[in-house]
Amino acid sequence: MTDRNLPIGVFDSGVGGLTVAREIFRNLPDEKIIYFGDTARVPYGNKSPETVIRYARQITSFLVSEQVKAIVIACNTASAFALHTVQAELDIPVIGVIEPGARAAVQATRTGRIGITGTTGTVSSGLYDRLIGELMPSAKVFSKACPLFVSLVEEGMIDDPVTIMMIHRYLDDMLRNDSIDTLVLGCTHYPLIRKVIAREVGSSVTLVNPAYETAVSLKELLNSLDLAADGGPVDFSAHRFFASDGAENFKKFARDNLNFDIENVELKTLQ
Ligand code: DGL
Repeated sequence: MTDRNLPIGVFDSGVGGLTVAREIFRNLPDEKIIYFGDTARVPYGNKSPETVIRYARQITSFLVSEQVKAIVIACNTASAFALHTVQAELDIPVIGVIEPGARAAVQATRTGRIGITGTTGTVSSGLYDRLIGELMPSAKVFSKACPLFVSLVEEGMIDDPVTIMMIHRYLDDMLRNDSIDTLVLGCTHYPLIRKVIAREVGSSVTLVNPAYETAVSLKELLNSLDLAADGGPVDFSAHRFFASDGAENFKKFARDNLNFDIENVELKTLQ
């Protein structure tokens, strides 16, 4: 039987998935995680499904070798392309961020007009559209790839005129012509500019944060499988962080954007 106090593996193409880790820390304080950020090969958002699946297989094998009890694919692009492959290949539970985000969007919408944002890969996979359509056949889904948001966040340009301009460039059409009432922040980095997006799109649009929804789904999943940790809240130092390159940049991003003081980022090359 799996030990309920083993860590949860969380992985992303880089640092953005720390927004998902943050929601896990907030909502599942008893759980410890092993995070892997593939900083040597980021971005995934413009790579082919075959490449992203290959990377996801390498990372999940590494996490399994570290004896995790479950895996969260924090990256939207990797969830879109690789979730079903790794789910079928592993004998521990694996969840991605897209299904929880799609479910929350359907619950949030009043008019059924839902906007999806994400990387080029996530948007082109059409997975959010398909899942929302299955849950709410009458829904109208409008998608927009917003690739520059990732770089703007990584440059620390949060409430910045360039970011505000790009929000309007990417989203005005969905707001004015498609009249969406719900917008999914379908990329790891977007929750970090959530307040600015909320202000610019206005209060008539509900924002859905798949990072938060995934933590809620993870909690339900662990409870349903009798896998929730029972040792009480863990200290931040119990979590482990791996990156495939640039440990110092990783720490800096975590400190500046998430207020995480990560003492040690372990370097791990995968191939
Ligand atoms: N983590 C990616 C995602 O959520 C964004 C960054 C990238 O393109 O790798 O889709």
